[in-house]
Amino acid sequence: MLTAAGGDVREILRNVLLPKPVRDPYPWYARLRQEHPALRTDQGLWIFSRYQDVAQILGDPAFAAKDAAWFDAHLPFWRDHPGMLAFLSCMVFQNDQHHLRLRRAMAPAFAPARLRHLAQVTQVSVAERLGTLEDRPDPVDLHQHYSLPVVRDTICALVGVPADSGPELYELVQPLLGLLDPLPSEATIRRADRSAGVLRPLLEDLVLQRRRRPRDDLAGHVSILRDDEAVSALMLALAAGFDTAVTLVDHCLAAPATGTHRTVLESLRHDPPLQLVTRITRCAVVVGEITLEPGEEVMALLGSAHRDPERYPDPDHFDPDRNTVPLLAFGGGAHYCLGARLARTIAECAVPALQQRFPGTSRSAGPRTARRITLAGWTSLPMRLAPAD
Ligand code: HEM
Repeated sequence: MLTAAGGDVREILRNVLLPKPVRDPYPWYARLRQEHPALRTDQGLWIFSRYQDVAQILGDPAFAAKDAAWFDAHLPFWRDHPGMLAFLSCMVFQNDQHHLRLRRAMAPAFAPARLRHLAQVTQVSVAERLGTLEDRPDPVDLHQHYSLPVVRDTICALVGVPADSGPELYELVQPLLGLLDPLPSEATIRRADRSAGVLRPLLEDLVLQRRRRPRDDLAGHVSILRDDEAVSALMLALAAGFDTAVTLVDHCLAAPATGTHRTVLESLRHDPPLQLVTRITRCAVVVGEITLEPGEEVMALLGSAHRDPERYPDPDHFDPDRNTVPLLAFGGGAHYCLGARLARTIAECAVPALQQRFPGTSRSAGPRTARRITLAGWTSLPMRLAPAD
């Protein structure tokens, strides 16, 4: 399945592409960059790991997103799976006019006035959660009791659903995230189908309500689309919004406390929540020393690009004072993350608020990691809290 030349390459690929209970991909990325900066697996997938190549793939119009035509040709069973059909029809997997039409429908929900409203939602949620932390026994799992609920409340407001439906929606989108991995298992695909079976009618109902009574939230804005498109757009917002931003807040809380703006940027560089993107070539194109033919499948490792010593000296060291921009954590080109500003705003509110309330906070044990590749993230962050006197 993962074969490509010799056994050492297989070992690298196993560590880069397959989920494991405890996983640190960074040493394996380093080997890829040094030994196989452009690696083609026997299944024809090209893997790029150096900053310069990854940046080119994100911005060069010679690369397109995988779309329905690609899925029909390479995953012919995808239309038989409701989870795949709904999630892989969202705009991340569309190109050109189709993509633009869907992106234009979603974009007003991220306009500056909406972001100001959402920042207030984050602030209220932060204040509420901080109030509950002191009563919890040490160590407190800040992932479960802080990052996750704060992000969940904000994303619920973005979408336009009540905050108390957040926990259920969060659980329902988890299986969809597994579909982003390079090699989703049959069990993952079945779980995503079950989730979509519950999510779809909930979201269809929400869209119907907005058509009757318009509102200035994401559900309201996407209600101009076809039913299936609107449902996919809302699934995307829930899937793309929850765990990415939670991971960012978790990473910043675990980092040494310094100026928040810089900590957020360096955290996005050091361990980007979304580790990779995939593309296909529209035409022949040269990347580094390799000429790719039209129709080739390409994986760009964002996490590896950010540890490339050619771009960031001493890349494994967390250094908030370094110049990080341009970062690749939010992608680039036509698919640049629509929620980038929102994610940073959430982190820039939640992280200093916790550090001010509990200035002596320290890690009590290592976080646990989700068994995923593309959106790895943590499932716990136990920390000892020391309140301000
Ligand atoms: C796209 C990362 C937070 C919504 C993307 C892409 C990346 C990314 C790398 C490009 C995917 C590709 O090119 O294939 C992140 C990170 C986040 C974050 C690191 C947090 C730190 C959010 C949030 C939302 C969001 C909070 C809000 C719902 C989206 C959407 C797209 C996207 C809608 C698709 C854009 C398109 O296809 O045109 N994100 N994201 N993201 N993100 Fe985010």
